[in-house]
Amino acid sequence: MKIVVIQGPNLNMLGLREQNIYGPMKLEDIHTQMETYAKQSNIEIEFFQSNLEGEIVDKIQECMGEANGIIINPAAYTHTSIAIRDAIKAVQLPTIEVHISNIYAREEFRHKSMIAPVCAGQISGFGPFSYHLAMVSMVQILSEIKAMQEAQQAQQKQQ
Ligand code: DQA
Repeated sequence: MKIVVIQGPNLNMLGLREQNIYGPMKLEDIHTQMETYAKQSNIEIEFFQSNLEGEIVDKIQECMGEANGIIINPAAYTHTSIAIRDAIKAVQLPTIEVHISNIYAREEFRHKSMIAPVCAGQISGFGPFSYHLAMVSMVQILSEIKAMQEAQQAQQKQQ
């Protein structure tokens, strides 16, 4: 089982950028914590960050056949990107949208997510812990999918 974590624009500046909103933690420290949890759960994990919409679309497309699930913080593209939304819809992998800040408690333009309707769920507002919650949720989703596939295989054998 493999999860790909995709980080959108300006998230490479975590720890430096608007600390009052996003806190002092750097992106690499968040990734280290996610990696620890992935290891404990026997899951392979890959990290990708880009400031470019097209590169994020390319990465989502590459996940098809390569990964079992996607955790994505599309950052500002959350509120604008039909291209990222369409890519997620196209690859048909369980996807969780993550935000460090509570986007509904901020400016009105952040209240709308183009991405959420094509995701299994959205986690927003728990600081860097949002990523941990996404990991726990993804592990749960993947184990449910695995159990379902095993039950289907068992049923097919009986037929
Ligand atoms: C963000 C929220 C977005 O509105 C913003 O553009 C970001 C970060 C978050 O994680 O809280 O860059 O996705």
